Amino acid sequence: MKNIEKIIAGAKMVLEDNWRFNHTLPSPKVYPFQWNWDTAFIAIGYANFNIERACGEYRSLFKGQWKNGFLPHIVFWDEAKSTEYFPGSSFYDFSRSPNVPKTISTSALTQPPIHAFALEYMYSVSSQDQRIAQLIKELFIPIFNYHSYLYKNRDPKHEGLIYINHPWESGTDNSPVWDDILTSMKPLVPDYDIPALRKDTRHVNFAQRPGNYEYQCYLFLINLFRKQNYDDAAIFENTPFAIQDPLFNALLIRSNESLIKLSGLLGFDDKKDEIRSWNERSIRQLNTKLYDHEAGVYNYFNLKSGKSINKLTSSCLIPLITGAPEKNQIESMIGLLTGSEFSGEARDLFLCPSYDSTAPDFDNKRYWRGPVWINMNWLLIQGLKRHGHIELADRIIRDSIDLILENGFFEYFDPKKEQVSGEKHGYGSDRFSWTASLLIDLYYNHLKS
Ligand code: GLC
Repeated sequence: MKNIEKIIAGAKMVLEDNWRFNHTLPSPKVYPFQWNWDTAFIAIGYANFNIERACGEYRSLFKGQWKNGFLPHIVFWDEAKSTEYFPGSSFYDFSRSPNVPKTISTSALTQPPIHAFALEYMYSVSSQDQRIAQLIKELFIPIFNYHSYLYKNRDPKHEGLIYINHPWESGTDNSPVWDDILTSMKPLVPDYDIPALRKDTRHVNFAQRPGNYEYQCYLFLINLFRKQNYDDAAIFENTPFAIQDPLFNALLIRSNESLIKLSGLLGFDDKKDEIRSWNERSIRQLNTKLYDHEAGVYNYFNLKSGKSINKLTSSCLIPLITGAPEKNQIESMIGLLTGSEFSGEARDLFLCPSYDSTAPDFDNKRYWRGPVWINMNWLLIQGLKRHGHIELADRIIRDSIDLILENGFFEYFDPKKEQVSGEKHGYGSDRFSWTASLLIDLYYNHLKS
């Protein structure tokens, strides 16, 4: 095995190369702006060796927050890059909403609400560094406002479960979970000249990215929201896509837990009761409405059809990061992780594939339809450690490190262990920021000790 210290130095170099004046790009060619949940994963890495950067990263992201608390999934810091990415700020035309920030353009979709959890984690791994305490003091109310926005605007039945209105809001963009809904949208979807509009396939092999029909649907939905001037009530009425996602809701619950902990620490006690009451409801509903007793795992709910979606993705396991699952629920998720679904028939898969490897539409190369993502592994490691499954957490740590050592800092990786010699098994963009930053965190906090 190559020298790990050398690889860590390489990881730091990736972050340095991807840094632009006040934020880190996920990858300069494919994602040339600041992304929402990438910021958390990147700042977690920085918190181990460059606290100023970690804080700067976060302050920049929150400059994009809307007046109603909404936190967009992209902040378009450098308009000159608009020709290199699609859909850019002009497609969103976000100023149709009265809530947008004045000084910077953003997208009008959000991403999983990881931030309070990330900040609590950063505070802890930096040994309670005062600069991170100060950052949390600044961001506590903005994050509280974001959660409050979600409960007010994305929970139409007041269940305590938030819905996402676009596949990109899940963070797992072209998961097979969305397939049936996207197919049912066929009569609605216009005919954009997708191959001409797309920029991603200039840099990444088409076989590793979402298909063109999916892109038609992505654009159709954004256009629909734009026509409603980004008004959530109008969007909910008109959209065919409204899904309660287990990863999104688990991160919200985990972040609420962090806000409760931090509120005592940093003097925001007056918010505690409200956050607690949000969270009690959310945990109850996660464990009932979003839990499939037969499969022994969390699932998705389609608010438009009124039906659960029972496709097994790694998102279905992410509630492990919360205190919600009971012992028997945890055990059955461990069974899936170590069984043929995620470990392969003969334990021949690296953990953790993003989709059930026994499903007929499992695809080991394409984006969120099979490959391993390091951010999902990092979340699973936190969840397994929380519930005392150290050995399995260690296996995921080793698998993550091996994949990066063998292939480089790719965006996602082939879960299949059998390798055709000479072939690289890293896909998507190379020199991807959260792969580098989370390797740094795994090294400092989960490997050395
Ligand atoms: C892809 C991922 C998404 C990520 C973005 C930027 O779209 O699916 O989760 O935030 O890239 O890295």
